Amino acid sequence: MKEYNVAIVGATGAVGEEMRKVLEQRDFPIKDIRLLASERSAGRRLTFKRVGIAVAELTEDSFEGIDIALFSAGGSISKKFAPFAVEAGAEVIDNSSAFRMDEEVPLVVPEINPEDIQEHKGIIANPNCSTIQMVVALKPIYDISRIIRVVVSTYQAVSGTGKKAVHELREQTKALLSDGSIKNEVYPHQIAFNVLPHIDVFFENGYTKEEMKMVNETQKIMHDPDMKVTATCARVPVFVGHSEAVNIETEEKIPLEKARCALENAPGVEVVDSVEENLYPLPVISKGKDLCYVGRIREDESIENGINLWVVSDNLRKGAALNAVQIAELLIS
Ligand code: A2P
Repeated sequence: MKEYNVAIVGATGAVGEEMRKVLEQRDFPIKDIRLLASERSAGRRLTFKRVGIAVAELTEDSFEGIDIALFSAGGSISKKFAPFAVEAGAEVIDNSSAFRMDEEVPLVVPEINPEDIQEHKGIIANPNCSTIQMVVALKPIYDISRIIRVVVSTYQAVSGTGKKAVHELREQTKALLSDGSIKNEVYPHQIAFNVLPHIDVFFENGYTKEEMKMVNETQKIMHDPDMKVTATCARVPVFVGHSEAVNIETEEKIPLEKARCALENAPGVEVVDSVEENLYPLPVISKGKDLCYVGRIREDESIENGINLWVVSDNLRKGAALNAVQIAELLIS
């Protein structure tokens, strides 16, 4: 079997660490792995398949001989360095928002639009975490009847912001439980024991960038620019696992059992829905797992053709690292 030289840009970050784990767990055919981060981390040793590997500083020359480069170090780093990776002959899978809405760049969720990958010109974008888990649950419904409108509210874990946010939640929780004082460095407000209706920057229309990503990326992935989507995204004091309340309006009425059956048979989905036993998807059960968990499947009784779902997934895995590695698997298949 052919083996590939793979680079991870942002290897020391929350998603970068998960990328290393996922590549290892899925036994991706790797000849050589290059771990790249800022100069702050240069020389630090990380392990891959029980071998210690020194992190190198990301530079314009980091990509010589690399076949596949997984980027997860933020949009500005991707914008600046992804072109160097492409120029060096690598195929880039980018986890930032830098190229997602670029018409030349496919935005891919392998369970939904794997064929789009063929259009790539060097860069393939990995969608936003909250978008990925939602579209995985929407697709089996859409395949029965076109979805006219989605109203989604998210409850997003702090690991989506990165390692510093994980540290901030941990430290604030400890401090508040011992009557200590807290610092807000990553978020504008206390995140421990709180809920912030604010993810990423605000736009002029009053929505946040995260909310508009859910609108625009969903339409692009589903190839339906007329599908209406509206989102409210909130950050909650959870370490890993995004939760979403998803309200769906379809063109035709879908009997609930048919929707449930479609979800049960959908790739990447596990239905956890037994209210008699208090069973529904939870962030704590999603952590470290690969699937999108769907539950609380019920009719929206306020409209003719509506369904409500509760969707939970590990934001670092299916929401980021796993989806990126699945794209890499498509590339080499
Ligand atoms: P470093 O650890 O050296 O700062 P997270 O999302 O968890 O905050 O991680 C962000 C990742 O992006 C880290 O691996 C971080 O490396 C990396 N990163 C941040 N700034 C740069 C930069 N200027 N060049 C290369 N990597 C960077």
